[in-house]
Amino acid sequence: MSVIVVVGSQWGDEGKGKIVDLISESVDVVVRYQGGANAGHTIFVNNKKFVLHLIPSGIVRNNILCIIGNGVVLDPTAFFEELEFLEDNKIKTSNRILILPNTHLVLPFHKVIDKLNEQGNDKIGTTGRGIGPAYTDKYYRLGIRAIDLFNDDYLINILKRNLAIKNSLAKSYYEVNEFSFESTLNYLFEIRNKLKEYIVKDSTIVSRLLEEGKKILLEGAQGALLDVDHGTYPFVTSSNPTIGGAITGTGIPSKRISEIIGVTKAYCTRVGDGPFPTELNNEMGDHIREYGNEYGATTGRPRRCGWLDLPALKYSAKINGFDSLAITKLDVLSQLDKISICTAYKLNGEIIDYFPIDTTTLYNVEPVYKEFEGWGTSIQGLRKIEQLPANARKYLEFIEENIKVKIKIISTGFERNDTIII
Ligand code: GDP
Ligand code: IMO
Ligand code: MG
Repeated sequence: MSVIVVVGSQWGDEGKGKIVDLISESVDVVVRYQGGANAGHTIFVNNKKFVLHLIPSGIVRNNILCIIGNGVVLDPTAFFEELEFLEDNKIKTSNRILILPNTHLVLPFHKVIDKLNEQGNDKIGTTGRGIGPAYTDKYYRLGIRAIDLFNDDYLINILKRNLAIKNSLAKSYYEVNEFSFESTLNYLFEIRNKLKEYIVKDSTIVSRLLEEGKKILLEGAQGALLDVDHGTYPFVTSSNPTIGGAITGTGIPSKRISEIIGVTKAYCTRVGDGPFPTELNNEMGDHIREYGNEYGATTGRPRRCGWLDLPALKYSAKINGFDSLAITKLDVLSQLDKISICTAYKLNGEIIDYFPIDTTTLYNVEPVYKEFEGWGTSIQGLRKIEQLPANARKYLEFIEENIKVKIKIISTGFERNDTIII
C-alpha cells in the first residue's frame, strides 16, 4: 500500500513543487489532483529552474509517469505551452503524461469571464486563469470534459447550452461582445487532435496502477486555507486542495493512502486578497519578501508576507490529518535577530480556541506572538539535522509540539538536495 499525498497547509506556494520533486525519487507515478494553471510549482535542479502549472512535478525526473487527475481543470493552451517549455529544456514528455477522461477543460471564455469578474471592487485577486468559471460549469453540469471532445453530438449540444447562458450574461450583465460558438467549437476541434494521445479511456487508471503495485504520489495545488470548503471563503480557489480533493480528484479509495504530508513554509505568505492575521505590512514583511523571493510563480505578483500562524496550521492539520510536515524556506529566516510565531488569536480581548471560518471575524482577530531568538548564521543548503543551529531546532521543536505532527523534511534552500530528511 503506497500512496503519498502532498498537500499545501497554508495559502499556497509553500514549496510543494520542491517537495514533490524530492519525494518522487522513490515513486513510479505522480498525479495532480485539483486546481489548474493557477498553480506555479517551482523546482530547481542543478541551478536550472522549472515552473510547472498543470503537469505534475514528477515530470522533471525521468521514468515517472505523470497523470492529470479528474479533479484538475485543464487549460489545453497552457498545457501545450508547458509541454513545449519542457521539451525545450530537454525533458522528455512523450509517453509520460496521461489525462483522465473525466477531467474538465478550461476554455478561452472561462479566462475572459474570470478577468471580467475581477474588475469590480469585490475582487478575489484570482490568477485570471479561468479556474472559478471552469469549476462553475462543472458543477452547473455544462462543463466539457476531455472525453467529450470525441462525441460530436454531445459536444455541440453542451456548448450551445453553455453559451446560451454565457451570452445572455455577456449582453445584460457584463456588457461585452458575445462569445462565438463557431470559434469555440473550432478551438475544441483543433485541440482534440493534439490532446488525443494523452487522454486515457479508463478513468480508474490510478487505482489500476496501484493494484499493479506502483508507488503513487498525489500532488495538491494551492493550500488548505484556499480550499473552497475549508478555506477563507470567499477568498479561496474553486477546488479542494485538502485531502478529500486527493480522493475525488484521482478516483482512488481513501483506504489506500499511506501518508499525508503537509508542506509548510517556515513563515506565511498569501497572494491575492482576503484575511491574513499575521501579515506584516512593514519593513519586516518587505525583508521576508526580498530574502524569500516571494513573488508569484504564475502571475509574478508580490506575495504578502507574515509570521508563521499556528492557529491556522493547527486547523489545517486537523482537517487534513497530516502524518508529517515538510518545513520549507527555514533558511529565509536566518537573517533575522528575532522571529515571531503566532500561538493564538484574540477576539475582543479573549483568546479563542477555534479557527474562525468567516472572514469578518478573521479580519478582526489579534494574533498573540511568542518571540524566538534568531540563529545568526546561514543555514542555506544544510543537509544534516546535527548541523542546524540550536535556535533553529528550538523553532522547529516548538512547531512540532504545538501541531503534534512530526517534521520529517526540512528544506534549507531551493535546490533539490538542499534538504534535511529526518
Ligand atoms: P508551490 O506552489 O507550493 O510549489 O511553491 P512555489 O514554487 O510557488 O513557491 C516556492 C518558492 O520557494 C519557489 O521559488 C521555490 O524555488 C522556493 N523554495 C522552496 N523551498 C525553498 C527553501 O527551502 N528555501 C528557499 N530559499 N527557497 C525555497
Ligand atoms: P500553488 O499551487 C498561491 C489564489 C489566488 C487567489 C485565489 C483564487 O502554486 O500553491 P484562482 O485563480 O484560483 O481562482 O484564485 O487563490 N491562488 C494561489 N495562491 N498559490 C497558488 O497555487 C494559487 N492558486 C490560486 O491568488 O487569491
Ligand atoms: Mg506556487
